[in-house]
Amino acid sequence: MLSAGERKVLLALGARDGASVESVQAAAGFSELVEVMNAASWLASKGLVRIGERVDRYLAAGPEARDALDRGLPERRALKALAATGMLAVADLAAAAGMEKEEVSLAMGHLKKRGWADIRRADGQPVLELTPEGDAAASAGRGPDEELLAHLLGAGDRGVPEGEVDPKLAEALRGRRALVRAREEVRRTLHLTDLGRRALARGITVKEEVAQLTPQMLKTGRWRRVELRPYDVAAYAPALHGGKPHPVREVLDRVRSVFKQMGFAEIRGDFVESAFWDMDVLFTPQDHPARDMQDTLYLSSPKEMPVDPALLERVRRIHLDGGDTGSRGWGGEYSEREARRALLRTHTTVLTIRHLSEHPDPPVKVFSLGRCFRRESVDYSHLPEFHQVEGIVMEENASFAMLVGVMREFYQRLGFEDIRLRPGYFPYTEPSMEVEVLLRGKWLEMGGSGVFRPEVTAPFGVKHPVLAWGQGLERIAMVMYGIDDMRSLYETDLGWLRARPLG
Ligand code: PHE
Repeated sequence: MLSAGERKVLLALGARDGASVESVQAAAGFSELVEVMNAASWLASKGLVRIGERVDRYLAAGPEARDALDRGLPERRALKALAATGMLAVADLAAAAGMEKEEVSLAMGHLKKRGWADIRRADGQPVLELTPEGDAAASAGRGPDEELLAHLLGAGDRGVPEGEVDPKLAEALRGRRALVRAREEVRRTLHLTDLGRRALARGITVKEEVAQLTPQMLKTGRWRRVELRPYDVAAYAPALHGGKPHPVREVLDRVRSVFKQMGFAEIRGDFVESAFWDMDVLFTPQDHPARDMQDTLYLSSPKEMPVDPALLERVRRIHLDGGDTGSRGWGGEYSEREARRALLRTHTTVLTIRHLSEHPDPPVKVFSLGRCFRRESVDYSHLPEFHQVEGIVMEENASFAMLVGVMREFYQRLGFEDIRLRPGYFPYTEPSMEVEVLLRGKWLEMGGSGVFRPEVTAPFGVKHPVLAWGQGLERIAMVMYGIDDMRSLYETDLGWLRARPLG
C-alpha cells in the first residue's frame, strides 16, 4: 500500500538504487526535496527503503584568513624580525615586528611550538634566540600552513574536502578559529531493501491512504473502509522556525516590564554627551585615575558641547573645594575645555543625573535601558558597545537598605535565584556596592550601585537620598540564556538563534 509519492520514489530507485535524494528528486519530478524525504521516510518505516546518511567535512577559510595571509601570521612576522638580528629581547618584539601587544604572546607561543626560537634569559630579561630551524624557515618563504590558507582562500565558501588536507596541518590551524572554519555537508542516499526489491518485482499498487479523519468520514462510516495511515513520530519533516525576538531584544523587554511592574517610569536620552554631564556632574575628577575606569570614546565632530555657564561654575567649585556641600572637593585644577569635550556616553548614569536635574523633588522612580560605549578590548564579558539597565529611587526616607531590597527584588523578578553583594567604589556614590550573580558556578559581576554623594545632588537642590544603580544588560542575558561568552549574543549564529527556546 503506497501513496503516489512513495510509488514514484520506489520506481525511481528501481532504476538507480543508492542514488542521492537530489537525483531521486530530479528523476521522479518532485518540486521540493522535502517531498522526496517525506516519501522516503514513509518507505523506510514500511521497511522498503533504507536512508543512508553521509557527512562530508570541508575546511574553508575563516574571516581573518585573508588578513593573516596578507600581513603574515603573527609568528611569521615575529620570525622575520628575529631573523634580522638572530636575537631579540621579548620586550622589543612588538615594536620590531609591528604587532599589537595582544599578538606577542600568541606569536611567541607559536615560535616555540615550531621550534623556530628559544627563550632564554639575558641580563635578567627574557630574550628570543633564533634556532637553525627558525633560520631555515625564515629563508624558505611561505610555510605549509600559509600555503594551506592560500589554497583555502582560493576554494571559496565551500572550502576543500577535509580528506585532501594534511590532517596535522589542518588540526594546527583549526585551533585558531578565525583562520579556518570547519563545514559539514550531510548527503542523504536512498537504498532499496530486499523487501523493497521484491515489492518492485511484484509490481506495486497505489492505494489512497488517509492521513486525517474528517467528521464526514465518521458520519458516513467511510472510515471503516479506508486505509488509515499509522502515525509515525520518527517520519522526516523539515524543521520550521517561527519568527521570534532577538535575545537581546527579549531581555530588554523583560527588564522593561519588570521595572514597570515595580512602579518605575522609563527615561531616554542621547548617545552623544559632554564630559561635563557624563563625568564632571557625577563628581568624577578630571585628572584622577577614576576617569580611566571608563576608557572613553571622545568625538572629533562635534568636538565640544555647550554647557550652561551657571551650572558649570557650581560644579567647578565643587570639584575645586566642595563649594557649600561640606566636602573638600578634589582640589587641583578644573578645565572648562575638558568639561565641554564631546563623547559617546560611557554609562546611562548620565540620563539619570540629567533627569534628576530637572526633577529635584521627591518622589522620583525612573529607569533607563540604553546603549553605552567604552574603549574596551573585546572578551567574553566585555564589548565596546553594550546596554545598561539604570535607575534611581529618590524619596524622603530612602536608605542603603532599601537599595539592597530593590536590587534583590529586581533580580528575583528576573528569576535569578542567588545574588551576592560586595562593597564597591564609584566617585559619585557613597556607600557603593556591586551586585554579582551566579553563572555556571562562578560569580559574575552584574554592575554597580550606591547612594549619590552630596557633591552630585547639591548643585540641583536635591534634598533627599538618591539610590542609584547601573547593571549590564548583556550580562543579564548571559545568565538568562546560560551562555558563557557575551559575544555570541551578537554573532548572528542562526543555528543558536533558531534552537533557542523562547524566554
Ligand atoms: N555607572 C556605573 C557603571 O557604569 C554604575 C553605577 C550606576 C554605579 C549608578 C553606581 C550608581 O558601572
